[in-house]
Amino acid sequence: MAKLFIDASERSGHPIPQTLFGIFFEEINHAGAGGLWAELVSNRGFEAGGSNIPSNIDPWSIIGNESSIIVSTDRSSCFEHNKVALRMEVLCTSEGTSTCPSGGVGIYNPGFWGMNIEQGKSYKVVFYVRSMEAIDISVSFTSSNGLQTHASANITASASDVSNWTKMEVLLEAKETNHNSRLQLTTSKKGVIWLDQVSAMPLDTYKGHGFRNDLFQMLADIKPQFIRFPGGCFVEGEWLRNAFRWKASVGPWEERPGHFGDVWMYWTDDGLGYFEFLQLAEDVGALPIWVFNNGVSHNDQVDTSSVLPFVQEALDGLEFARGDSSSRWGAVRAAMGHPEPYDLRYVAVGNEDCGKKNYQGNYLKFYDAIKRAYPDIQIISNCDGSSTPLDHPADLYDFHVYTSANDLFSMSNKFVHTSRQGPKAFVSEYAVTGKDAGTGSLLAALAEAGFLIGLEKNSDVVQMASYAPLFVNTNDRRWNPDAIVFNSFQAYGTPSYWVQRFFTESSGATFLNATLQTDSSTSLVASAIAWKNSDGQTYIRIKAVNFGSNSVNLQISVGGMDPNSVKLSGSTKTILTSAGVMDENSFNEPKKLFPPCRTHSNTAGKCGQGDECPTFTTFFNFI
Ligand code: AHR
Repeated sequence: MAKLFIDASERSGHPIPQTLFGIFFEEINHAGAGGLWAELVSNRGFEAGGSNIPSNIDPWSIIGNESSIIVSTDRSSCFEHNKVALRMEVLCTSEGTSTCPSGGVGIYNPGFWGMNIEQGKSYKVVFYVRSMEAIDISVSFTSSNGLQTHASANITASASDVSNWTKMEVLLEAKETNHNSRLQLTTSKKGVIWLDQVSAMPLDTYKGHGFRNDLFQMLADIKPQFIRFPGGCFVEGEWLRNAFRWKASVGPWEERPGHFGDVWMYWTDDGLGYFEFLQLAEDVGALPIWVFNNGVSHNDQVDTSSVLPFVQEALDGLEFARGDSSSRWGAVRAAMGHPEPYDLRYVAVGNEDCGKKNYQGNYLKFYDAIKRAYPDIQIISNCDGSSTPLDHPADLYDFHVYTSANDLFSMSNKFVHTSRQGPKAFVSEYAVTGKDAGTGSLLAALAEAGFLIGLEKNSDVVQMASYAPLFVNTNDRRWNPDAIVFNSFQAYGTPSYWVQRFFTESSGATFLNATLQTDSSTSLVASAIAWKNSDGQTYIRIKAVNFGSNSVNLQISVGGMDPNSVKLSGSTKTILTSAGVMDENSFNEPKKLFPPCRTHSNTAGKCGQGDECPTFTTFFNFI
């Protein structure tokens, strides 16, 4: 038996920062390319094989054989920063002795482990083409073996129309659904055709901004207060030459060079670039937190004496986000369709670099320059200030933890002894990892729930927290576990995802004083918050995590309320549990572990048994 006494009086507790719970998006596990970013073509500019030619065109493949087509790469593209183009020499014809195979010859792209084409939906295909002869190209979505055609259109043009690089655009409407489709460009016309920057985008993306709708919605449902991006190690790179550089990721998509992320070992065309990350934050209603490289990667470092160009790059990035549209970089943003500045208030100088030789020296250069130009920007240091105070100025410090379930659960007390003075903690990466986690277990989620209750409790010194990583495409699991699991057409939340949903009302709420009485054999943590719903009423949400192996009878009493101002309107109880602690969700059982709503008194109509709970899981309704 355990007892929880909650003091719900107005003087009780402390305000929880409005920013407490958010998300961390890293380009890892194909979270963006082949994930949230809805572009269907992988390696759209033929740059992934490197800038030396001849080059590998993977994952593009050739339709036809050596007697009918010769495909190679050259450096004839009209795009200055990505010169590689595809050259297709068609040797066969539609009639005569060297007849092309039926359907023609050409190339196809399977996308990221199959393109998801849905019946009735439209897809915009864009490509650049050049030829000395007239062209007749068929653009189609087909089955993975090319035998069934799901959508198709013909592009014809005279030699004079395409003697210089020309942009072609066509809308394809799918006649049927195929989650494993491919895009083909084929012809039966003899001649040489150059192709470059081939893109296929569904029209149906969030607000037309390019975000895959189902994945975007899963983010939005967490109601994140901030979004940290774009990494993680992705920002650092194994080597600086492969780190994410914001300037190469903005402007027209055709002109972006793309880059090989050498930590997570895959190519990105950088369609999801700095602008799109800022837009994502705006669309999801979260404050952007930009993590930039500070001249330090996993294996090489810029000396502090030569770091100023990197500092300038960061300042330019701030101008891109916040500058007036008449400023140099603000004008680039405006030209991309966002004349108003983005609400960028936080930056992190590097990722997990604190112990590295040049970090502190470099950090101070960034800190001073940014504070001079943008005094209001909050600067996040990589150095952990949770046990000993930082020896350098910062507004916040990063705290990362990946550990076992027992350890993380016990860390619900982590910030109890942290100094109440100085910069606040940004727990920007936390998760249970290793064997306790499986590929997203209940056990991991329970430990994380306990840890998060501890963060709420200590939110006078913890200002922000986000789980990591957010996404995994199951075809390229580089890090395990992750909150949201997807493939080309399906997605589900791990129990860790659902735990985050329990905390959606916490940011900006009041943490109520509560005392938990348990005997030593129980592993229980519990807390209560008071928060205002959109109906203007104040509710109490009580959260309890039983991390032990025995069931516990928890008796809850709420005091400190004026009986004349309180209306008991009923309650709902939301439980995340399962038969076994290592149970997981999967594509076959996406909601095996999912917090269904159990309705108690007076809440009929608000949710039914087995439904997803509405956002208010309450015990009392204040009037
Ligand atoms: O979240 C996965 C990785 O873990 C991040 O890239 C890095 O910051 C940490 O080591």
